[in-house]
Amino acid sequence: MILLFLAFFSLFLQTTLGNNVFPDDFLFGVSTSAYQIEGGWNANGKGESIWDVFSHNNPDKIIDNSTGDVAADSYHQFREDLANLIYLGVHFYRFSISWPRVLPTGFINHVNPDGVKYYSDIIDQLLSNKIEPMVTMYNWDLPAMLQELGGWTNPNIGSYFVDYADFLFSKFSHKVKYWITFNEPGEICETGYGLGLNAPGINMSGIADYLCGKTVLLSHSKVYRLYKSKYNNGKLGISISTPWYEPKNKNVKADVKAAERAMQMEFGWWAHPIFSRHGDYPDIMKDRIKNLSLANNFTGTRLPYFSKDEIKRIRGSADFLGLNHYTTYLVSPNDYNTNLTSHVKDVGVKKEIDPKWPASKARWLKVVPWGLEKLLIWIKNEYNNPCIYITENGYPDDGGLLDMDRVRYLAGYIKSMLKAMQESQVNVKGYAVWSLMDNWEWIDGFTLKFGLYQIDYDDCARIRKPKSSVNFYRDLIHVMEIPAICFEGAPVIPKIEHI
Ligand SMILES: *[C@@H]1O[C@H](CO)[C@@H](O)[C@H](O)[C@H]1NC(C)=O
Ligand SMILES: *[C@@H]1O[C@H](CO)[C@@H](O)[C@H](O)[C@H]1NC(C)=O
Ligand SMILES: *[C@@H]1O[C@H](CO)[C@@H](O)[C@H](O)[C@H]1NC(C)=O
Ligand SMILES: *[C@@H]1O[C@H](CO)[C@@H](O)[C@H](O)[C@H]1NC(C)=O
Ligand SMILES: *[C@@H]1O[C@H](CO)[C@@H](O)[C@H](O)[C@H]1NC(C)=O
Repeated sequence: MILLFLAFFSLFLQTTLGNNVFPDDFLFGVSTSAYQIEGGWNANGKGESIWDVFSHNNPDKIIDNSTGDVAADSYHQFREDLANLIYLGVHFYRFSISWPRVLPTGFINHVNPDGVKYYSDIIDQLLSNKIEPMVTMYNWDLPAMLQELGGWTNPNIGSYFVDYADFLFSKFSHKVKYWITFNEPGEICETGYGLGLNAPGINMSGIADYLCGKTVLLSHSKVYRLYKSKYNNGKLGISISTPWYEPKNKNVKADVKAAERAMQMEFGWWAHPIFSRHGDYPDIMKDRIKNLSLANNFTGTRLPYFSKDEIKRIRGSADFLGLNHYTTYLVSPNDYNTNLTSHVKDVGVKKEIDPKWPASKARWLKVVPWGLEKLLIWIKNEYNNPCIYITENGYPDDGGLLDMDRVRYLAGYIKSMLKAMQESQVNVKGYAVWSLMDNWEWIDGFTLKFGLYQIDYDDCARIRKPKSSVNFYRDLIHVMEIPAICFEGAPVIPKIEHI
């Protein structure tokens, strides 16, 4: 009788509130990356990465002159992190392996057993607590020695990456079922080799970023083909980051075209070669870069093309699309009246925000939940409904335990994702919050706090404390339903427990 009542009551809730229930097999998780949390930058045989070199040599390029030398000290405190993952009840934990911690020089002939043991222990402890490990192989920390050879602008680096990947598969593929080759190829190549803002700090936009992109896409496909032929006991994908590009004025044809061009030349640069029916770079990207190269007196295009065979091998080289998404821009055309060669000029758009959108601590991140639904539908239509895991989504603030703005952000974006799944049948299989804890946010140092758990960076003990968002996310995972507290107008009640 009571059961019957409960069944009717939950039916009543669902019809009055809309169906906010996730499928049983949907996976919720959290994401981190090695350099941003581990510390132990030179511990027990680890080699230097380009981020060690960059942060040590260019303190002026990091907003608070900090480094990731200690970061969240996860190298020594993974037990604390594990306890927090268990408390949250996440289905998976997405973390990255530091290449130079495992192979200090980058080359396969020198293995660091301590580094292998560190990750092996993490994987075993996750599994014994029924948390699936999702492993990113490259989250920006290239072994410094490989940068001496040109890093990702050198096509030969790909074979060293394949050696490294093969090593990881040989050690862990019987335990790890979710693999991601690269985290955010756009940021690796554009911000690292084009704008020079990130490590390795190469400022050669419109040239080095495209060389890097070709190596990264080819390396990704080689690792995928290796995995399928030699291991093939899980899923392997790539995590691509993109905002949603909305036309500034939907009634202006040029704005609609510019927004589509931004989608194709920023996101499609990476997604089109892998997920589209015909593969290769988007046509608009090839056309524009060729025209602008010739106009600038290059003898041919600055975009290095793939051979027919390479196009074939890259196409289809992923079991899923990892999607990192944070925000939206309003887009209109902009020719950038300059002779400078740059990727920004190649794309030829102006990106703005609507001043009405709620802000965050980061200049670049405004709160626009509906952008995620539009992005997911665009991906479904453009790439024939691929399997998607949202591998990063999150909100930066100044810190503090009462993080209601983060709760509202997450609730809004998660609802938008569920709407795309329910109303447009977008094939989203999982979602991860960026990030488990406050970390070292690259050139923003410790000034942006993305964590569900707080860390006081003035305290050497690096004690983790749960924020209100821990309660929110834990409840959501527990019931697999967006909690009623998150509906429009309802008060959000903070409760902080569990230390
Ligand atoms: C960072 O370092 C630069 C010089 O390298 C110095 O001018 C600046 O004051 C420092 N800033 C902080 C916040 O320490
Ligand atoms: C990159 O080069 C351009 C043009 O020389 C310059 O304006 C810009 O400040 C440089 N950026 C960095 C990060 O060095
Ligand atoms: C590139 O130039 C060709 C020849 O002038 C022109 O037909 C084409 O429309 C241009 N493409 C783009 C994307 O500007
Ligand atoms: C390209 O070369 C031509 C001929 O030498 C010259 O007139 C033109 O100004 C050059 N264009 C640029 C963008 O430098
Ligand atoms: C581009 O270069 C050409 C030739 O050098 C020059 O005439 C023109 O004024 C330059 N344009 C800009 C925007 O600098």
